[in-house]
Parts: sequence; C-alpha cells; structure tokens
Amino acid sequence: MRERGVFITLEGADGCGKSTQAALLVDALVARGREVVRLREPGGTPISEKVRALLLDPANAEMVPECELLLYEASRAQLVRKVIEPALERGAVVLCDRYYDSTYAYQAGGRGLDEALVRMANALGGCGLAPDRTLVLDLDPRTAYARATSGGTDRMEAEGLAFQERVRAAYLRLAREEPARVRLTDASGEKDEVTARLLDALRDLWG
Ligand code: TYD
Repeated sequence: MRERGVFITLEGADGCGKSTQAALLVDALVARGREVVRLREPGGTPISEKVRALLLDPANAEMVPECELLLYEASRAQLVRKVIEPALERGAVVLCDRYYDSTYAYQAGGRGLDEALVRMANALGGCGLAPDRTLVLDLDPRTAYARATSGGTDRMEAEGLAFQERVRAAYLRLAREEPARVRLTDASGEKDEVTARLLDALRDLWG
C-alpha cells in the first residue's frame, strides 16, 4: 500500500507574504523529490473558483456573515473531495494557501460569528479532514495591511485594519490552543529567512 501524503496549510492575515512563501516552499519540497500539489482557498476547482469570485467581488458588499461563512465552506468541501483527498491518497504533499483556520480567524475572529458554530461549519466544509501541520505567518498588522492594500482592496480587505487585528488575534489563540498542529512563524525579515523558519516547522513530518 502506498503511503498517505502530507497535508500542510499556510495561514496568516492579508499581506503577511503567504503567496510568496507558498511558492518558495513548493520549490524546496519539490527539490526533496516530493510530488507537491499547491492550492489556494477559496478556489482550486471550477465550482470553487466561481464561489471565490462571489466572495471577493467588492460589488457584493451586502453579503451577510452567515452567507459568507457558508460560501467559504461550500468552496472548501468541493476542493477537499475533488482534489485534496485524491492527492493525499496517491502520496502527494498538499500545500494549501488558507484552509479552515482562515474561517475561524476571519468569520469568527474578524466578523464575530459564534465560534462553536464556525467550528461545526468547518467540520462540514472540511469533510472531516484536518491538516497535518498549519503554518501561521505572523507579521505586525499595520505592515501587513499596508502591503495588502497597496494595489487596491478586495471585499475582505476593505474591512480595514481593526478587522485584520482581530484576525491576527484569532490566529494567535489557535496557535496557543493547538501547538502540535499550528505553528506560529515570524514573517518579518528576508524571504529566505522566513522560508527557512517554515521548513524548520515541518522538519518532523518527513520521518
Ligand atoms: P486572497 O486574495 O486569496 O487573499 P490572500 O492572498 O491573503 O490569501 O483572498 C482570500 C480572502 O478571503 C482573504 O481576505 C481571506 C478571506 N478568507 C476568509 O475570510 N475565510 C476563509 O475561510 C478563507 C479561506 C479566506
């Protein structure tokens, strides 16, 4: 029987440098001879990409938090069943830029939806699949927010700095609550230094 793959998720507030680090991490993992599947949420399947467009369109300012929560979960369930589970079954490393901890941080932390409800929604949207390791990139919220909004804002970024500060606080809580899975990583400094910190936080997974 082939060995199951490894499911890694990358998290952080807007502008923390996640996308850059995702690309650098993929290079480092491929160099180790692994099949790496890089994904981002919301998105990654034709249905999930349509849902993404709905979620990020600034024209949808009227969207209520409950609708937002369920759309993120709908997009996620499709991605888990169609892409993530099959990739893990064939032994790949799946690196997903955001997953259900984003829902905890943004919809519970940022929007203030009930935490227990959000956790139940995450169990459904994630189809019961938990990451093996979650890397949270942590950066001063002012620096991150200035970076995220320098080229215009999507519907989530338009919520402002106080929202991003609540998102960060939720990530810090998660890292305290689940230290074995969720690793807080300092995202300041040179890109390569940050990548080295991230790889360090994955070291024990390769056996
Ligand atoms: P995206 O442009 O992909 O942002 P980033 O590059 O920072 O990941 O937009 C995704 C946005 O959706 C981002 O603001 C975070 C938000 N989001 C949630 O609010 N809840 C979620 O469950 C997910 C996956 C993302």
